[in-house]
Amino acid sequence: MSSTPDALSLTAPAKINVFLRVLGKRPDGYHDVETLMSPVSVADRLELQPLPAKKIKFTCSDATLPLDETNLVMKALRAFEQRTGVQQGWRIHLEKEIPSGAGLGGGSSDAAAMLRGLNQWQGFPLSEDDLRALACGLGSDVPFFLHGRPCLGTGRGEVVSPAKFPADLPLVLIKPPFGIPTPWAYQHWAGSQELPGVLYAPQLCPWGAMVNDLERPVFQKYTLLPALKRWLLDQAETFAALMSGSGSTVYAVARDPIAANDLAEKAQAWCGETTWVRVATTLGIR
Ligand code: C5P
Repeated sequence: MSSTPDALSLTAPAKINVFLRVLGKRPDGYHDVETLMSPVSVADRLELQPLPAKKIKFTCSDATLPLDETNLVMKALRAFEQRTGVQQGWRIHLEKEIPSGAGLGGGSSDAAAMLRGLNQWQGFPLSEDDLRALACGLGSDVPFFLHGRPCLGTGRGEVVSPAKFPADLPLVLIKPPFGIPTPWAYQHWAGSQELPGVLYAPQLCPWGAMVNDLERPVFQKYTLLPALKRWLLDQAETFAALMSGSGSTVYAVARDPIAANDLAEKAQAWCGETTWVRVATTLGIR
């Protein structure tokens, strides 16, 4: 977070799921999960500037995103206003780097950054517990992004506690030109089948097992993704490969930073230019 006297600039990092176990469906329609999440170095940027009247001017570098009350940044603003009873005007600019429908938590991270930014601007009227309660109401991943460090998530993912996970792991993030709605992935988890010849089993790594139970339903419908995972695992530069969250991003942990650069170049050539490919690293404690 950085600030000038009249503006705030906030970093909203993406996340990867290092493991994601779905434990079962709950009476409220959500699924109980156990997941390890780490923030990564790819990030959106949220700029906040107060305006004199109660006017909201919201702009975004991505013209395809709705800038109305359905945007999680606006939902965060409304939740904050309602909780504090304070309403004022804002110029909000969102510089998007994290793709949508990617399983990288972009919208959730933007919402958490908005909550943190508003609270800072207004002199911290809300406690950490208050912010966490607002974050829970905005989405299962939002509380994780308030922490800004690797965390274990339980419940529907919103009960987060700090976890040990290495910083600076070299990653390649690959998101094909389609997104996956999270509700769809969870709805199809029960009864989904494994495809033959695809590695779903936990990949044992020095930092723990990497596995994602949502790969099963998602790979059945979006068959490019298991092909991409298989391709990544066949590359000498790859240490491990997994889908993040509900997809569509599949990421590789590379053997070292040079291998990550080489792998990203090969992946871009293999997938074509409509696929989003980024080299990144895991983030430790800020
Ligand atoms: O909490 P969030 O708004 O991100 O969740 C979006 C949808 O994903 C939920 O409405 C639900 O259908 C599904 N979901 C779930 N179990 C979770 C998280 C999300 O079933 N743990």
